[in-house]
Amino acid sequence: MTTMESLIGLVNRIQRACTVLGDYGGDNALPTLWEALPSVAVVGGQSSGKSSVLESIVGRDFLPRGSGIVTRRPLVLQLHKTDEGQPEYAEFLHLQKRKFSDFGMVRKEIQDETDRMTGRSKQISPIPIHLSIYSPNVVNLTLIDLPGLTKVAVEGQPDSVVQDIENMVRSYVEKPNCIILAISPANQDIATSDAIKIAREVDPTGERTFGVLTKLDLMDKGTNALDVIEGRSYRLQHPWVGIVNRSQADINKNVDMIAARRREREYFATSPDYSHLSSKMGSEYLAKLLSNHLESVIRARIPSITSLINKSIDELEGEMDHLGRPIAVDAGAQLYTILELCRAFDRIFKEHLDGGRPGGDR
Ligand code: GDP
Ligand code: NA
Ligand code: MG
Repeated sequence: MTTMESLIGLVNRIQRACTVLGDYGGDNALPTLWEALPSVAVVGGQSSGKSSVLESIVGRDFLPRGSGIVTRRPLVLQLHKTDEGQPEYAEFLHLQKRKFSDFGMVRKEIQDETDRMTGRSKQISPIPIHLSIYSPNVVNLTLIDLPGLTKVAVEGQPDSVVQDIENMVRSYVEKPNCIILAISPANQDIATSDAIKIAREVDPTGERTFGVLTKLDLMDKGTNALDVIEGRSYRLQHPWVGIVNRSQADINKNVDMIAARRREREYFATSPDYSHLSSKMGSEYLAKLLSNHLESVIRARIPSITSLINKSIDELEGEMDHLGRPIAVDAGAQLYTILELCRAFDRIFKEHLDGGRPGGDR
């Protein structure tokens, strides 16, 4: 691993430990530290392809997808890159004793845990599900899947649902550390995109918004999305990325991720409209673009993250000394874990970056 990979990995693990710690965190710099760490939220209209895009970025099939309102609670997904040869597994915050190696079971647990909170209805809940995936094949990243923005409540939903979803989405994307993956389907007019509407509102300069155009394969014959993809319809600071996810028919036929990615690559390579852009299109390119962006954001924030980490180390050492006060045993262990992770961050930072060339080992 490069120094940056190690540092981002530690940042990821500190975030996870802070999540596990939850409200027992006490009065220290940890909440500020969490806010300083970037995450990526997926926003857009219902069935625009948000969950599908997220899955492609991860390279694994594990999310409930489909027509209508499928994602009904936020899913905070942390990807942890592990060493080559290590087995891939997933773990839920609400089920910490269990390691999932079957990703079909991960999907089932997301569905069950959603139903546990909302019933088997079309109701939504703002309480997030926390999932971590450990794998040699992922990049260190925190991704958030959100319910889709809608215009009308459907049977079984209160009228407030439209506003409730919008408020929930806004509470994530308004944070300055949130990178917005704004998903719009190519078979709808970009001027009506819910994703662009909310992204423009919270990030008017477009510096933390990535425009993603899905369903290119579903556009009417004889039309194309070059005006959007080439930034003429709505300009963002980052380039737009076009995507072809699996269709509902593909999902029903169990077309797997590898086949889906191959077909997406072929689509762009052979498309008369997009072949000149094919190296900058598709889910794999989007994943790379995001991880590069994340790396540069963290690199730029290293001085402030480092000082917060040092502050946390001091405070945590203080808290560990006073563990006489009533604090859950688990919380004590968690604080100790965070302390160790912070110390590791500080050590790697000092050895490789402090005073030296940033990313000097690459
Ligand atoms: P979400 O509601 O925004 O999370 O959207 P999903 O990922 O659940 O997808 C909604 C539906 O659109 C599913 O049936 C997907 O198969 C389909 N879909 C998503 N993206 C594409 C795409 O790029 N092309 C095609 N043909 N179908 C897509
Ligand atoms: Na959907
Ligand atoms: Mg979804």
